[in-house]
Amino acid sequence: MLWYSWCVNPAAVTRSARSFVRWRRQFETGLEPIDQQHRELFETLGQLAGAIETGAPRDQLDEGLASLAQHLIKHCQTEETLMKEAGFSGRIVHANQHQDLVLGVRDLQYRRAKGQKLGLEAVELVREGLDHHICESDLAMAGYLKTLRAV
Ligand SMILES: [Fe+2]
Ligand SMILES: [Fe+2]
Repeated sequence: MLWYSWCVNPAAVTRSARSFVRWRRQFETGLEPIDQQHRELFETLGQLAGAIETGAPRDQLDEGLASLAQHLIKHCQTEETLMKEAGFSGRIVHANQHQDLVLGVRDLQYRRAKGQKLGLEAVELVREGLDHHICESDLAMAGYLKTLRAV
């Protein structure tokens, strides 16, 4: 068996667009405002994926992207405020990662404005970025914030 065949899940190939952007329990940080915003982000991304999949009109796709950008920026600001208030030492690196995520969505908006098609692969890239950021960075940040609250 070739190594890459291990990674191909036949179910994943046929799953719906919404299912691959589903929020998962391992994203849970234990900080309710953060978790709520993460769930909203995945919901917004799922709606965008659904709109692409069903061939929604251009206006609806642009609104979906705008909503995603709005939710993402608000969420990043929430986390950055919490990190600043807590004096979290990793906040600059973390904020730079936020900037990359926001720039990724802004880039999609720019491409749309230039008339380029928005495909599910673009949503998948955003989803991967969010997955990675939450699992690697948000959980670490939340761990630190929770230790402060426990004192
Ligand atoms: Fe974050
Ligand atoms: Fe986050």
